[in-house]
Amino acid sequence: MIRSRIAGVGACVPPREISNEDLEQMMDTEADWILQRSGIRKRYWAEHDDTTSVSKLALPAVEEALKAAGVGKQELDLIIFATVTPDALFPGAGCYLQAHMGLPGIPALDIRQTCTGFLYALSIADAYIRAGIHRTVLVVGAEMQSKCLDVSTRGRDMTVLFGDGAGACIVQRTEVQDASPATSRESFLFSTHLHADGSHAKDLIWASPGTANRIWNPPELVSEENSFPQMRGRHVFTHAVKRMPEAALEALEANGVGIESVDLFVLHQANKRINDKFSQALGIAEEKVFSTIEDFGNTTAATIPLGLAEAVRRGRLVPGMLVLSAAFGGGFTWGSALYRW
Ligand code: COA
Repeated sequence: MIRSRIAGVGACVPPREISNEDLEQMMDTEADWILQRSGIRKRYWAEHDDTTSVSKLALPAVEEALKAAGVGKQELDLIIFATVTPDALFPGAGCYLQAHMGLPGIPALDIRQTCTGFLYALSIADAYIRAGIHRTVLVVGAEMQSKCLDVSTRGRDMTVLFGDGAGACIVQRTEVQDASPATSRESFLFSTHLHADGSHAKDLIWASPGTANRIWNPPELVSEENSFPQMRGRHVFTHAVKRMPEAALEALEANGVGIESVDLFVLHQANKRINDKFSQALGIAEEKVFSTIEDFGNTTAATIPLGLAEAVRRGRLVPGMLVLSAAFGGGFTWGSALYRW
């Protein structure tokens, strides 16, 4: 049976470390407030000049993923790039990355499903592979949000939460003997589950520039408040703590797998309190939930592949483990994936 598997993962962050104390110098905030409310101690921000871009940031992560998978870049036959902070409004970051990699001709697709972007991208890679259309897909989740945030006190509710980072996975065709999730020990992606509810679009939004926005023109107005991402934090929090456990249970039920069989939860990292509530709701032991939020903040589409790469580096994720990922983000969008590493 044809399935897909994550054959290799890589991740990187830019070199500039930004502590909570550094943020105190930029805006009216307190390092301890950030730590208590979000669990974040530091994050990494790119240099804010024209030498950096999200597609360039992704390159070392891609190289690490290719090496881990033992795959040459010429074997790639599709690039899927999940980001909400692309190099430009168009063309997509996937096209830029493809050019950096010197792979003219292979298709490149951008996904903009915010913090659920990586799961959407993984789902598309899986569907193409199962359909026999592609064999070896590069799935990237990467963000350079620090260049887009309001670093004045006005933007403090969002800005303190976000970091820059990139994660990449090589998703490859595999032939499995036993495709039953309950009995198989083979490494493959069991299923993905995606959702969206656009009636909440304005609750977590980067509105301008955008065609629904009357102040796209004149260009000088693009420095107005809605040219920065905005959110209703508590509202987002309330929905995230409901939807992420729901999506996780959906994946387990679809595969007939009990929650106790999951070895590691590699979740989106928006706020440590969201993931603590996820664990409490499902009765999961703390040591099964891998956390990177304290070191990297919320890197949006990058959190899950970055988490996978960190879990491998720290010896927390080894072949044979059953992994569950779940995410929630702007749209609203949410989803899950269940896979054996
Ligand atoms: N530093 C200091 N104070 C801040 C602050 C900051 N960086 N940001 C907000 N505050 C203030 C608020 O102005 C508010 O003050 P007020 O009570 O005088 O009005 C107070 O802190 C409490 O704000 P509130 O929003 O109620 O705090 P909270 O406990 O809900 O925590 C978030 C705020 C943003 C950390 C939390 O709502 C959250 O994590 N939401 C989800 C965000 C998310 O996941 N976004 C990405 C989607 S994947």
